[in-house]
Amino acid sequence: MKKEDIQNLISQMTLEEKAGMCSGADFWQLKSVERLGIPSVKVTDGPHGLRAQDEQADHLGINESIKAVCFPTGCATASSFDRQLLKKIGKAIGQECQAKEISTILGPAMNIKRSPLCGRNFEYYSEDPLVASEMAAALTDGIQSQNVGVSMKHFLANNQEKRRMTNSSQVDERTLREIYLAAFEGAVKQAKPWTVMNSYNRINGTYVGESREYLTDILRGEWGFDGYVMSDWGAVNDRVEALKAGMDLEMPASSGINDALIVKAVRDGSLNENVVDQACERILNIIFKFTENRQPDAVFEYEKDHELAAEAESDCIVLLKNEDEILPLAKEQKVAFIGKYAETPRYQGGGSSHINSWKVESAVEAVREIAEVTFAGGFEDDVDEVNEELQNEAVRIAQEAEVAVIFAGLPDNFESEGYDRKHLNLPNCQNALIEKICNVQKNTIVVLHNGSPVTMPWKDRVKGIVEAYLGGQAVGKAVVNILYGNVNPSGRLAETFPLRLEDTPCYLTYGKGVDEAVYSEGVFVGYRYYTSKKQEVLFPFGYGLSYTTFTYGNLKLDKSAMTDQEALTVSVDVENTGNRAGKEVVQIYVAPGESETARPVKELRAFDKIELAPGEKKTVVFELDARAFAYWNTELHDWFVESGDYEIQVGKNAEEVLLSESVQVESTKKIKKIYTLNTCMGELMRDEKAGAVFGQMMSGNQQAKEMAEANQEDPSGAVNAEMMAAMMNDMPLRQLLSFVPGMTREALEQILAAVNQ
Ligand code: BGC
Repeated sequence: MKKEDIQNLISQMTLEEKAGMCSGADFWQLKSVERLGIPSVKVTDGPHGLRAQDEQADHLGINESIKAVCFPTGCATASSFDRQLLKKIGKAIGQECQAKEISTILGPAMNIKRSPLCGRNFEYYSEDPLVASEMAAALTDGIQSQNVGVSMKHFLANNQEKRRMTNSSQVDERTLREIYLAAFEGAVKQAKPWTVMNSYNRINGTYVGESREYLTDILRGEWGFDGYVMSDWGAVNDRVEALKAGMDLEMPASSGINDALIVKAVRDGSLNENVVDQACERILNIIFKFTENRQPDAVFEYEKDHELAAEAESDCIVLLKNEDEILPLAKEQKVAFIGKYAETPRYQGGGSSHINSWKVESAVEAVREIAEVTFAGGFEDDVDEVNEELQNEAVRIAQEAEVAVIFAGLPDNFESEGYDRKHLNLPNCQNALIEKICNVQKNTIVVLHNGSPVTMPWKDRVKGIVEAYLGGQAVGKAVVNILYGNVNPSGRLAETFPLRLEDTPCYLTYGKGVDEAVYSEGVFVGYRYYTSKKQEVLFPFGYGLSYTTFTYGNLKLDKSAMTDQEALTVSVDVENTGNRAGKEVVQIYVAPGESETARPVKELRAFDKIELAPGEKKTVVFELDARAFAYWNTELHDWFVESGDYEIQVGKNAEEVLLSESVQVESTKKIKKIYTLNTCMGELMRDEKAGAVFGQMMSGNQQAKEMAEANQEDPSGAVNAEMMAAMMNDMPLRQLLSFVPGMTREALEQILAAVNQ
C-alpha cells in the first residue's frame, strides 16, 4: 500500500484504535481494524524454524506448537561461515511461513557470545560481530525474499540470561560500537529487516526499550532502519516513554492497560499524537507489505526441508581432531555407536525457539543405510551420576569393535533460555564413560551435541572429535555424512573453546552483580582477548579440519600505502592439494601496528567460503574499507583510523597466520585537540604544529636551555637519559613553572593561545 493510502487510513482511525495498533491482540497476533480493512497478522518464533502455536498460545512454549522443521540452531549455522547456506535456509523458512500464513519470524537471534556461559548461546552466532552480522544478514535475505519479515533480536547488549528482564549491562561507548552494536549494524544496513526486537535489559541504567539513542538515533538515524521496532515479550517498562523512544509495537498484548496510557498521555498533552501516528504507519506498512504479497500457493514441504536441514548441518559440523586419519570411517569397519545421543540426539535448545519437530533423524537410524554398527546408551540423560550398568555395557561393545564413536553432549537442563550455565563441563557420567572407553579402545571418536563450548579433559586420549553443535532435527544424518566421508567437513568454530572457564575474558564479572553486569573486559571479547593475551586455548576461533588439504599463496595487496578514504583490495590463491573435494573458509584478519589506544592484536575483517575440487586453485578477492582499520574514537564519537602500518593476515584460524603483508594507512581525519596547562609535554610535542610553536617559543628561554643541557650531562648519575625523556614526556605544562627558571604563567598562557589556534 502506498504511503499516502496508509496515512489516509490512519487519519480515519480513532485515537483508541491507533493506540491499540501499538500492541498485540494476543500472544502472536497483531490487532485488526475490521471497519477499515486492516487485517490481523501473525508473528512466530524463530529463529531456526517455526514455533507457531494454534489455539492454546503461551509465551515459552508450554503448549504444543504446530509440527515443523527444526533447522540447525545459530551456533551450528554460524560455523558454516557460509552466507549462501544461511540464505537457503532462510528461503525455506520464509516459504514455510507463507504456507502457514505467518507474517514475521522472530529471529535471527544475533547477540554476541560475551561468555560461553550464556544460557542462550546455542541460538546466537558468534563472539565476533562480523560473523554474527553476516550470518544474520544472509538468513534475513533468504526469509525476506519470500515476502516474510524477520525480527532481528535481541537489540541490544543482551548477553546473559540471569535477570535478563531487569539487568543493566554496564558498557562503555567504544565497546558498544565495536562489538555489540556492530553485530546489528552490518545486518541492518545490508539486509533491511522488516522489524527489530528490542531486548529486555537496560544499558547503563536505561531500558533499551526506552532509549531514543539506540532505537531511533542509531538504528534509524545512522543505519537507515525503516521497519518497526517491537518489544521482546513483556519488555515494556514505561509504555509512553518507550513509544517516544521508538518502540512501536508492544508484544504481546497488555490487556489494554498500556494502550489506555497512550491515549491518556495524548489527551493530557504529554505525548504528541504524531508519535502514535508514526508508530502506526510503520506497523501498517509491514502488515500490508505481507498481506499484499501473499504466496497463496506456498506449501510446507516437510520432507524437502528435512533434507535441507541435513545438508545444511553437514556443512556446519566442525572436525576438531583427526589423529592418524581415523576419519572418515570405512563401511567395512566394525564400529560401535555409544551414547544416548546417537539414538535420541540433542539437537535444539529449550525455551522460545523450541520446535515441535515432525521428525527427528538419529545417527543410529541414518547409519543403517550405510553400515552395520552396534549400539549402547552408555549414560542417562540430564544427570551427572554414572549408571554402572549402562556404562559397563558400553565398555563391552567398545572393546568388541574396531572403532568406538561416543555421542556425548550437554543435556537439555545444562543450557537453556532463562538461566546461564554454571560451568563448562560435560556431565560427569559422560566424561567418565569416555575415559573408560579409552582404556579399552584406542580408536575412540567423540561426537558432541552442545550449544556452547565444553571442556574436554579426554582430548589427548581420543583420536577424533566431531563438533555437531545443536544441529537440528536431521543432525543424525549429517553426523553420519561426516563420519563416513559422504561430506567433507568444512565447519569452522565461530567462537573460541577455552581451556578453562577461568581463562574467559569476563570470568571475574560474568553473572556477578545483582542487577548490573559490568562489561569490564571492554572490546576484548572472545579471540580478541585470547590472541592479545597470548592465552592458550582448547580450540581457537576459526578452527576446523578437513579431509583434504589447502595451500595458500600469492597474497597480494593492490597498494602498499593508502588513505582512510580508499579501499584496499586483497587477493590470495587457495589450492586444494589433497585428493577430495572440499570447502575452505578463507579468513582475513587486520592487525594494527603501534597504537596508543588499547586494541585487539587482530580482528577478523573479511571471510569467504569457497569450494575446490582436488587440484583446483582459486583466487579469492576481498575489499577492505576504512572500517577494517578503524576503532571507535570517543573524542570524535566516530570511527577513526590511526595513521600507521597495518598487517593484513590470512589466517587458518585466529591463532595461525598463514601469510601476511603490510599496508601503510594515512588518516585524513584530524582530531582537534585543545591543550591546557594539564596537557603533558610529550602529547604536545607529538602534535607537529603545536610542537613547532612550543619549541620556537621555548628556544628564546636561555635558562631553560641551560637547564636542559645541564640535565643531559647528568653530573650525579641519578637521572639516566630514559628517565629524563620520560619525565619530560609526562610533565604537564603547568609544571614548567617549577622547573624552568624564569617561566611565568603569562608566558605559558601565551604558548597555549598560540598552539590552540
Ligand atoms: C524471547 C524472544 C522470543 C519471545 C517470544 C522471549 O522470551 O526472549 O526471543 O521471541 O519470547 O516467544
